[in-house]
Amino acid sequence: MIQLNTHYAELKDSYLFAGIAQKTRDYLASHPGQKLYRMGIGDVSQPLCPAVIEALHAAVEEQAHAESFHGYQPECGAPFFREAVAAHYAARGVTLSPEEVFVSSGASDELGDILDLFSPESPAMVLEPAYPAYLDASVIAGRRILHVPASAENGFLPSPPETVEAGLIYLCSPNNPTGAVFGREALQSWVNYANKTGAVILFDAAYEAYIEDPALPHSIFELDGATTCAIEICSLSKTAGFTGTRLGYTVIPKSLTRQGLSLNAMWVRNRTTKTNGVSYVLQKGGAAVFTPEGQQQIKEQIALYKRNARTLTQALDACGVWYTGGKNAPYIWLKCPGGMGSWEFFSYLLNEIQVVGTPGEGFGCCGEGFFRFSTFASPADTAEAARRLLQLFGGRA
Ligand code: MLT
Repeated sequence: MIQLNTHYAELKDSYLFAGIAQKTRDYLASHPGQKLYRMGIGDVSQPLCPAVIEALHAAVEEQAHAESFHGYQPECGAPFFREAVAAHYAARGVTLSPEEVFVSSGASDELGDILDLFSPESPAMVLEPAYPAYLDASVIAGRRILHVPASAENGFLPSPPETVEAGLIYLCSPNNPTGAVFGREALQSWVNYANKTGAVILFDAAYEAYIEDPALPHSIFELDGATTCAIEICSLSKTAGFTGTRLGYTVIPKSLTRQGLSLNAMWVRNRTTKTNGVSYVLQKGGAAVFTPEGQQQIKEQIALYKRNARTLTQALDACGVWYTGGKNAPYIWLKCPGGMGSWEFFSYLLNEIQVVGTPGEGFGCCGEGFFRFSTFASPADTAEAARRLLQLFGGRA
């Protein structure tokens, strides 16, 4: 008889965002026609920018004619896309060859797929609170998890532990959900730790475009020694509004080796076996993000989401609610008022003011008592949610 992967039984009943979506559907079923202010999952509200739309239209047109039609794309990425990403890193002082850049259909897909490179015997270190896919994908793979709790005391940026040796280390900076960002020195200590112990860092840089402090690193490859211990996973979802379009990229340096094997060469082998690449049309749209016009246009969108962050943090300030994040990151991490539990607060906001957020407990048990707002809703919805928060908590939070 077939044996199933019984590690699925170790997972929570539903994935965090699927659970929230279900609860909001249930609420709407019993409150038909009610408008919700959605600041739960980090899904963008603004359309793709004009440079991307033009490139997508032009690529669709190419696909309409035999002389310009493109079939299969190279599995690891079209050269024009890999070159555009490498040039973007070069502008930031990080030298990569295009062959070190791999196209992907988004960071969340890649964060699961990349585990194929590692034996399930290697434990995964997860700094919590953390994006739940790190934990769930590792549990599904049957990997032992080393939980490293973060807290307000260490600014939600823990240092490498001295006693345990990780196999994989998940780092996310700017952090989802806390909005904390590693400074150079703190990130360097993780790079040194990984090089010393032989661990590999999976660096989730999905929110790097939100960094406004020039002293903070956008890429782990800005740090000395990172090319021998890190893989960087990026996404155009939050950078350029590709949540529904799906496109990302992964950087695996050629100098990253373990046990005499090149992880870059292994990933080439993996991709050529397991995918037929990402569509030509989407890669054309993605490459347009890295043009001067694309960069200018996405900066304007990011500025809009940052204004949303200010709208929300001003309301939280006025209510006396403790929070962090929202400055170099599109997430605001707050302490639930009145000592409420995070799911209790979720239900309270949903029922009282129809605002949807994400309970901190969903990011690991040290997130209990906290709550996350995403800043990706429309400015009008964000302003209304802030007004309702003020009305609900004004003067008593
Ligand atoms: C989040 O809300 O944490 C993210 O948007 C979810 C995701 O990227 O899958």
